[in-house]
Amino acid sequence: MYKKVLIICRSVHHNNTLSIAKAIGEELNAEIIKPSEFNNKTISDYDLIGFGSGIYNGKHHQSILNLIDELKAQNHKHTFIFSTSTIPVEAMHKNLKKSLIAKEFQIVGEYYCKGFMNYSFTKHLGGFNKGRPNDKDLEKARDFAKKLMNNNM
Ligand SMILES: Cc1cc2nc3c(=O)[nH]c(=O)nc-3n(C[C@H](O)[C@H](O)[C@H](O)COP(=O)(O)O)c2cc1C
Repeated sequence: MYKKVLIICRSVHHNNTLSIAKAIGEELNAEIIKPSEFNNKTISDYDLIGFGSGIYNGKHHQSILNLIDELKAQNHKHTFIFSTSTIPVEAMHKNLKKSLIAKEFQIVGEYYCKGFMNYSFTKHLGGFNKGRPNDKDLEKARDFAKKLMNNNM
């Protein structure tokens, strides 16, 4: 059972990832903040930390990656990763995972799903993944959070 959970989320395009953060956060009773609101000194207060954002040019938002670069080694602190993207595949998590492993986090789960995108030329096509994340994506996110909690009982 995790006692205190922090979710650090950056959601810049359509708040797609923020909706996932809120669904996961509700289940875990987590505090949700932006990278700019993070206080390095309080990290030891949390026994689980989630990092999430949209995927921009194949990776998580640079502010998330920068934040992790600034941290000291975390001695196996539990963490989870999430994202929304046009093409939701595990490979999009590669950079973030590499950064977390370098700081000795223990990754206990990953969640990703489709997110609406109408950036650049796709705007003229009406965008991709209309309506995503949808109710089903949010339900799956909540199930993901429940599993995280149960696996740590
Ligand atoms: C500048 C930009 C770059 C993007 N690059 C990718 C990408 O490389 N791969 C992908 O699958 N989706 C990409 N997307 C789509 C976003 O990942 C998707 O819309 C996501 O749901 C946005 O999340 P947000 O609303 O939380 O910011 C990109 C979107 C933008 C605006």
